[in-house]
Amino acid sequence: MEYKIAILISGNGSNMLNILDACKKREIKSKVLTVVSNNPNSKGLEKAKVFGVNCKVINSKKFKNQYDFENSISLHLKEFNINLICLAGFMKILSKNFVNKWKKKIINIHPSLLPAFKGLNTHDRAIRMNVRYSGCTVHYVNNKLDSGEILDQEVVRVLSSDNENSLKKKILMKEHKLYIKVLKKLEKLE
Ligand code: GRF
Repeated sequence: MEYKIAILISGNGSNMLNILDACKKREIKSKVLTVVSNNPNSKGLEKAKVFGVNCKVINSKKFKNQYDFENSISLHLKEFNINLICLAGFMKILSKNFVNKWKKKIINIHPSLLPAFKGLNTHDRAIRMNVRYSGCTVHYVNNKLDSGEILDQEVVRVLSSDNENSLKKKILMKEHKLYIKVLKKLEKLE
């Protein structure tokens, strides 16, 4: 199946850029129809604009509640007939209401080997715990934080010389590969 993808971002957008690139090179058949950022100042937005993809800021701070914010996202995605939402550094937790509306249509990338290190500051916690392996996970999004069904993972060796920053860089490189691998897998599924 060729998906109509929306990518939701908040920050740097390197995963987003990587997906856009894979589409352009026809590594994946699906198309990214829109990039949504809840943060008007996200660096990713500039990168997406250069790519010429539709970009939309839906600033969470401008809505009186989460329901209205998410409703605005849903309406925007429906305009494009989106059938796959890729979260890529999207820093808002989505409500049960939104997740149910888009059941099995939202995937996320997380920089740890879930179920280890859910939530924020994953690399710092991995270093402090002295784990020897970490990595990244792409999973379906469900009602619990970083807990949906795992689609695939990549492992990274953590060296004693690693710090938060070096680990982040190593994992991010794996993230880029993993996200595309999972999208290819999903395209074959349906
Ligand atoms: C990535 O580490 C991703 O796993 C996490 O947020 C970070 C986003 O990085 N959810 P980028 O914006 O794609 O560069």
